[in-house]
Amino acid sequence: MLRVLLALACLGALQAAAVPDTTGYSVISLPLKDVLVNGQQSFVGVIGIGTPDQSMTVTVDISSRLTYVPSVNCSDPFCTGHRRYDSAASSTYEADGTPFELPYGQNASGVLSKDSISVAGATVHGQTFGEATAVWNSYSVQAPNDGVLGLGFSLQPDRVPSILDTMKSQDLIGRRLVGLWLGRDGAGGELSLGGLNSARYSGELVWATTLQNPDGWVVMTESFDVGETSLCTGNCLVNANSLNPYFFMSMEMAKTVNDAIGGIDIGQPGVVALNCTSVSTLPSLKMTIAGRSLEMSPLEYVFVIPLEGGAEMCISGFVGVPQFIDNYVSLGTMFMQKFYTAFDAENLRMGFADST
Ligand SMILES: *[C@@H]1O[C@H](CO)[C@@H](O)[C@H](O)[C@H]1NC(C)=O
Ligand SMILES: *[C@@H]1O[C@H](CO)[C@@H](O)[C@H](O)[C@H]1NC(C)=O
Ligand SMILES: *[C@@H]1O[C@H](CO)[C@@H](O)[C@H](O)[C@H]1NC(C)=O
Repeated sequence: MLRVLLALACLGALQAAAVPDTTGYSVISLPLKDVLVNGQQSFVGVIGIGTPDQSMTVTVDISSRLTYVPSVNCSDPFCTGHRRYDSAASSTYEADGTPFELPYGQNASGVLSKDSISVAGATVHGQTFGEATAVWNSYSVQAPNDGVLGLGFSLQPDRVPSILDTMKSQDLIGRRLVGLWLGRDGAGGELSLGGLNSARYSGELVWATTLQNPDGWVVMTESFDVGETSLCTGNCLVNANSLNPYFFMSMEMAKTVNDAIGGIDIGQPGVVALNCTSVSTLPSLKMTIAGRSLEMSPLEYVFVIPLEGGAEMCISGFVGVPQFIDNYVSLGTMFMQKFYTAFDAENLRMGFADST
């Protein structure tokens, strides 16, 4: 019943806006909608590809450099149930043809193409993106997103530039800086490109230097504790994962913390339920990053899935993933709903502040 890795639903028109930044550039600001279908949550926005614009609903993937959408040539069930990019209908399409395949068993492949991509009214030209001609994700057929907006960046100049790189080289933004605000209780979200929105956080951002990693945003945490349970021996590495709500970690780490908070087996490896009635009595999660303590209450680290008949199911936010090594935690959107997160590719650092 609960699928941890992808998300699902449908959305209406989203509004876009650009506001000036202190550097003189506009900050590109894309509204995101929070959708929950079949227990899957995702934050999605709408971009346009081609001329005229073919609109595509996308999730934001902060750690991947590749933006991709289904191709009109893809006839897999996922593709026929979603909007598909048709290069023949775009006057700005340029062929590339280099094959791509998504990593980590994401089960999509196709070829690279180039076209204009519009995000909240700002248009990059000649952006390389993936046209997926095959998508064989068994459970994503109902996903609310057609494709993915990849906001990674390149450390190596010879690699295919991400849309963030191209936005900077085409002077749409002054710096490769991304801010992600994700609201709670269906409030939606906001993606800022080229600057941050200080109205979306309070206090100062604490900055942590990212480790040199070609695609992901990885920083060190000095501690990661849930009540008396210390999950990291010494430092832990954490990365940001904008595609999933959960804290992904090794199976052993998840077992340790879930045993300590009364996790209930639901027959799915790595995932446990919690007694909704007593969630508020559980201890807080405390992390230290760059000397600053970041704290989440149990209500903030538990994912509540509404069931039929008004009932609810509470899922522990700590999810074990077999491929994960110890002392490594992936911070999902649950974390970002509590902390505004900034991704600064110019200074290779991540920033955190209390979300408002
Ligand atoms: C889709 O099919 C058309 C017609 O066969 C072809 O010209 C085009 O290159 C194909 N696009 C992709 C991405 O495979
Ligand atoms: C990818 O495909 C393989 C084999 O076809 C399948 O076992 C696996 O569950 C698929 N993964 C996803 C994420 O759908
Ligand atoms: C859940 O917690 C409440 C309050 O502590 C308790 O009364 C109830 O028996 C618990 N339910 C289960 C299934 O353990």
